[in-house]
Amino acid sequence: TNIPSVAQSQLAYFPVGTIGYNGGITGVQGDLVVKHFNSLVSENNMKWGSLQAQPGVFTYANADAEVAFAKAKGLKLRGHTLAWHEQMPAWVFQDANGQALTPSPASKALVLQREVEHITQVLNHFAPHVASFYAWDVVNEVIDPAQADCMRRSPWYLLTGTDFIDTAFRTARALLPAQVKLYYNDYSTTDVPKLACLHKLVAGMKARGVPIDGIGHQMHISLAYPTPASVNNMVRSLATAFPGISQQVTEMDIKVSDNGPFYASYEDIPPAVHAQLGYAWRNYFNTFRQLGGLIDSVTIWGQADNHTWLTTGSRAEAPVLFDQSLKAKPAYWGIVDPS
Ligand code: XIL
Repeated sequence: TNIPSVAQSQLAYFPVGTIGYNGGITGVQGDLVVKHFNSLVSENNMKWGSLQAQPGVFTYANADAEVAFAKAKGLKLRGHTLAWHEQMPAWVFQDANGQALTPSPASKALVLQREVEHITQVLNHFAPHVASFYAWDVVNEVIDPAQADCMRRSPWYLLTGTDFIDTAFRTARALLPAQVKLYYNDYSTTDVPKLACLHKLVAGMKARGVPIDGIGHQMHISLAYPTPASVNNMVRSLATAFPGISQQVTEMDIKVSDNGPFYASYEDIPPAVHAQLGYAWRNYFNTFRQLGGLIDSVTIWGQADNHTWLTTGSRAEAPVLFDQSLKAKPAYWGIVDPS
């Protein structure tokens, strides 16, 4: 149809990205991506569990297809993600007998060696296409504001302390050209305790000389939370604390609620709720634009409501811009025509 392109409508502000997934880059779904987005991130295919499920056995076909698609269609790429505690094969934190590693200098050295090996293999593999990448989520979701030291008790942390963070960034920086900026990426970054931890984490990395270029705000949010004003304050507080740091919205989607009630099927979601979602998208994008370059990329964690991680068997969500038949929703109009 003739409706305006989402990415074109934001060209003066930032690229607008979406996810690639198996089946998401072919046919009408691929056409939707090409028309409306100018940035792409792999939803799952560049995670450790997808690339190196078995030690030393690397599987690149799905990720390569997304990179080839992006290059052929002129979309820029975000890489996601090198070190995370989820979608990790168990072997990384086990000894040769399949027993869980316990903290010791030797197990720390082993896990860091595996991390360096993984990142090196992966970034060398994508090196021929690196000019198409502008960002890489190096480390994902390591903050736990319930801990006094702010650090999530993941196997990474329990076995290496914070060294896995520094090692990931240093290894990535040595292999990627400067135009590929390196991000720490997390969710709920507007939460007051979490934001305080984020400040502490980045300040510590900067003090140690760790090569971090940016912060990714996932923005898996809901109609109830957070307010656009708190997003504005959060981005400004980080920009003030870390002059020149890049900030990107990396995984945005909007649920109807954090805690229910939920809709059992997609058809149950009333037009009034779609309209509310439309106003929400409008208000957030107004905020991103008004931040005047402090947000330099926005990625939406879905192409259309027919494929979203938020919809489960008992819970239907309508968290992105196009409906289950790929038709533009009020969410789309809130971005493209906010007047
Ligand atoms: C999600 C994917 O969308 C799902 O398909 C998968 O089953 C789990 O991961 N934070 C992240 C993303 O950084 O990688 C996650 O993606 C969503 C939360």
